[in-house]
Amino acid sequence: AKQPVRVLVTGAAGQIGYALVPMIARGVMLGPDQPVILHMLDIPPAAESLNGVKMELIDSAFPLLKGVIATTDVEEACKDVNIAVMVGGFPRKEGMERKDVMSKNVSIYKSQASALEKCAAKDVKVLVVANPANTNALILKEFAPSIPDKNITCLTRLDHNRALGQISERTGFQVSDVKNVIIWGNHSSTQYPDVNHAVVITPKGEKPVREVVNDDEWLNGPFITTVQQRGAAIIKARKLSSALSAASSACDHIRDWVLGTPKGTWVSMGVLSDGSYKVPKGVIYSFPVTCANGEWSIVQGLLIDGFSRTKLDATADELIEEKEMAYSCL
Ligand code: NAI
Repeated sequence: AKQPVRVLVTGAAGQIGYALVPMIARGVMLGPDQPVILHMLDIPPAAESLNGVKMELIDSAFPLLKGVIATTDVEEACKDVNIAVMVGGFPRKEGMERKDVMSKNVSIYKSQASALEKCAAKDVKVLVVANPANTNALILKEFAPSIPDKNITCLTRLDHNRALGQISERTGFQVSDVKNVIIWGNHSSTQYPDVNHAVVITPKGEKPVREVVNDDEWLNGPFITTVQQRGAAIIKARKLSSALSAASSACDHIRDWVLGTPKGTWVSMGVLSDGSYKVPKGVIYSFPVTCANGEWSIVQGLLIDGFSRTKLDATADELIEEKEMAYSCL
């Protein structure tokens, strides 16, 4: 039998946490034959509620779940974890400046980085979900220097999946037959959902999305803004932000990273820029990646047209500005 994998979820008493932990315990993240031990962290005001989540996990009698730790102690939570999904953070409240939210999250990600550095498994894989996701991941990387850069990522898979969903809805093809969209840049409204290399699997073979949709005006306009603003649309409808789709996408992100992407398919992940596609080095930027043997690599050689270039640069500029703001909070 396989040894259990230890999976940390921070902010586990929150909305996304509540949707995510049962998915992990059912094998959605790491596969149906991989036992797991869940480490759940939240802050003291949420301790009682966190304990309630633990009670429900026990009550669910998940066969793959070999243990549950629910704690408000960061080091205890991080001890020997193999996967860390960082969902906990300080939300933007009415009347708060962007800089104030940044400052709260910088201090959270700085201290959690140190705990991971000290207590996690040496090859821990980290996924930051909490916003500002790319910049929180960058701060985490800065303050956990012994964790390899390649092991620190942020979530843009939700945006990627939203783009697949929009193409499927528009064309009537199953979402599983649409692939290779790209989310470039920041997990924010400046992200660029790019369909220039995306394809649909049709009964007549793979066809470019542009050919199947046959409406460039829609693809260059409403499609992009719908994906960029989908988070706000969910808040408007549910009066709460996306939770089940965020949790499901976090599972997709880790599963593909650990178990590999299917042949001929890429996904979007926020990773440290190495300068590919003339994206400035030193920011966590969402790229198209393939994964094999537990490692991601940026897909190379895709043609970037003028329209795309402007959009890749604009979202990079925002990330540089966020990086400067984050450093000014240190
Ligand atoms: P939530 O407010 O329901 O839950 C957040 C939880 O984090 C709360 O239980 C809170 O007590 C906890 N928390 C706060 N500070 C903490 C700390 N220092 N350590 C551990 N836990 C801490 O929020 P929700 O809806 O679950 O969203 C969580 C985060 O994910 C937010 O930052 C949200 O903006 C972000 N998000 C990111 C998405 C993405 O695609 N990257 C998609 C959707 C949400």
